[in-house]
Amino acid sequence: MNDRNKPKPASQADVTRRDFLKTTSTVVGGSFLGSLSIERSAHAQGSDTVKVALVGCGGRGSGAADQALSTEGSIKLVAAADAFRERIDGSLGQLARKHKEKIEIADDRKFVGFEAYKEAIALADVVILATPPGFRPIHFEEAIRQGKHVFMEKPVAVDGPGVRRVLAAAAEAKKKNLKVGVGLQRHHQAGYIETLKRLHDGAIGDIVSMRCYWNGSTPWLKKRADLERAAGRALTEIEYQMRNWYYFVWLCGDHIVEQHIHNLDVINWVKNGYPVRAYGMGGCEVRKGPDYGEIFDHHAVEFEYADGSRCASQCRHIFGCWNNVSEHVVGTKGSCNVSGHVIKLNEFDWGLGGRTWSYGRQGARDPYQQEHDDLFQAIRNDKPFNEAENGAKSSLTAIMGRMATYSGQVIEWDQALDSQVDQMPKIFAWDAPAPVQPGPDGMYPLAVPGNRDWLRKIV
Ligand SMILES: NC(=O)c1ccc[n+]([C@@H]2O[C@H](COP(=O)([O-])OP(=O)(O)OC[C@H]3O[C@@H](n4cnc5c(N)ncnc54)[C@H](O)[C@@H]3O)[C@@H](O)[C@H]2O)c1
Repeated sequence: MNDRNKPKPASQADVTRRDFLKTTSTVVGGSFLGSLSIERSAHAQGSDTVKVALVGCGGRGSGAADQALSTEGSIKLVAAADAFRERIDGSLGQLARKHKEKIEIADDRKFVGFEAYKEAIALADVVILATPPGFRPIHFEEAIRQGKHVFMEKPVAVDGPGVRRVLAAAAEAKKKNLKVGVGLQRHHQAGYIETLKRLHDGAIGDIVSMRCYWNGSTPWLKKRADLERAAGRALTEIEYQMRNWYYFVWLCGDHIVEQHIHNLDVINWVKNGYPVRAYGMGGCEVRKGPDYGEIFDHHAVEFEYADGSRCASQCRHIFGCWNNVSEHVVGTKGSCNVSGHVIKLNEFDWGLGGRTWSYGRQGARDPYQQEHDDLFQAIRNDKPFNEAENGAKSSLTAIMGRMATYSGQVIEWDQALDSQVDQMPKIFAWDAPAPVQPGPDGMYPLAVPGNRDWLRKIV
């Protein structure tokens, strides 16, 4: 702890942790750590060790836990939760290779199932939320209710009701002085930071036109037949969808939300705002089959901002096509390859070093590590840190894009935000009905743009 040698105020030093809990629990609804900086709460415990819980022990959750455990200062992973037990064991096994002495998780701190998150959150000061994004609003709300600092992966919701829950919890987090990081790591990447600084200082004048792409191929697929062969039994529909979550809107939001959010978020950052409406088209032309669920394989959306400027966005998951992941913008005085960190001016400008400026990559740190370093420093030093509102609004940008491509209609920001279409199941249980069911041929229904019956399921 940076300030560990500072004398404690007498009133704080005199109380035991139990006394402290008793006297403060009513203030924040049963939990006290979150209402204080870790600096203060850790002193209240007589220890500066930050306790972390991991909810969602897959690829990114394990990565985020590694990065959290690699931040400076005393830190321990004390609880893990996942829908499936084997994911916890796999993740902890992998983490133990690098951080054995920082993992204190006996079997009674491994929580499995739909309610597992609550118990894991209760044991920690800081919670990593890295399940498929459909669950994020539920988990984030609970973490803030329990008064915990949070790192949550993007996107933070898959529908309007989810975004509203996250925005409300984000406001609550501010009131409770809780720090929240969101896995939009470009905000912690030096090249982007330096480029955006110059754009915001007016290097290329007013930004009048933008484009961004995430055109690539399928990230991964879990086929039902392979899953059932490995399990030695038939899976319920909910279990199948949870294991093959990328292809179901209630879990993933579609790839425009799950993946393209990174590029859309950069454009929002450049514009210092969020789009007011979206016009789009999309479909599923090539990547078809029962295991590819209900999501589109391509989307092309124009996002219009309040000043009338538009961002032309594309995202595609089709093998064998041209691929590109980037953001570019044009201004009244020049243009910028934002992802390449290059600015080109129409006129010579010594302030920028001539006609072209580019970011020298020397010493650039891994943004995934940097975002954790920044969050944990803010927690330990009680500095303002709350990325939840931007995370929610960039998630909504992408959701609005999906609503536009699925419906074929112009979608307004408020329409997307106020949408009453809740994608999540009403009951969470392995044998509960899934929000979407396959037809007799095993195929899931795809949204039909222009069709009025579909519209009420989309917006
Ligand atoms: N910032 C980035 O660059 C980046 C990169 C990859 C993934 N991600 C994000 O991280 C999140 C997780 O992606 P991933 O690739 O790790 O997926 P994953 O499938 O590897 O991991 C997800 C884990 O969550 C578990 N899970 C599902 N539902 C749960 C529930 N209700 N409660 C507890 N556990 C549950 C799954 O069993 C699985 O172990 C996604 O939101 C994804 O978009 C971000």
